[in-house]
Amino acid sequence: MGFTIWFTGLSGSGKTTLAHLLHEQLKERGITNVEILDGDVVRTNLSKGLGFSKEDRDTNIRRIGFVCHLLTRNGVPNIAAAISPYRAIRDENRAKIGNFVEVYVKCPVETCAERDVKGLYKKAFAGEIKEFTGVSDPYEEPLKPEVLVETHKESPAESVTKIINTLEVLGYITPPDDGYSEEDKEKIKQRLESLGYL
Ligand code: ADX
Repeated sequence: MGFTIWFTGLSGSGKTTLAHLLHEQLKERGITNVEILDGDVVRTNLSKGLGFSKEDRDTNIRRIGFVCHLLTRNGVPNIAAAISPYRAIRDENRAKIGNFVEVYVKCPVETCAERDVKGLYKKAFAGEIKEFTGVSDPYEEPLKPEVLVETHKESPAESVTKIINTLEVLGYITPPDDGYSEEDKEKIKQRLESLGYL
């Protein structure tokens, strides 16, 4: 079945790491046709030339959403990993795609800045990069993400387990025969029910 897992969160929060780990785990379960749309990669081709104004970010996120929509409607599971800072555009993609699982990769900006994998926070704090998300540009948190992962508090493996369990509860993937973590799944069920997704 096609579905979109939409990671959103600050630069350095862990979106790309989780996307690849999730991809691996889906492969291990025999789901081998998964595509990843990563913001950094998309910006070297499909969105080449776009910058970081609100208008350009919206265009970038709509383009990624359009590809996710095409893949999903043709039965290809896909994972998007872009900051996607604006709630309205994420919700637009949700409405268009339908089988949409939003994962908020939450991490304090201070922790992202400590990690500073690409050295960009240093420049952003020094004012050398303008309009940097979380420093000098807005990030609108999701209000009702299907999954909340907190990468400063949990391991990548724990975060991915939450996502996999949610995909099972929502019926997008089948639990393995030796099913596990019934307790965790019950918690997820309650969460999804309270958000109105079940
Ligand atoms: S989005 O806002 O349009 O969703 P996207 O995820 O594609 O952003 O790209 C974000 C990546 O671009 C960051 O991880 C970072 O490496 C780089 N980048 C460069 N300038 C900025 C900026 N001003 N704000 C955020 N990220 C930036």
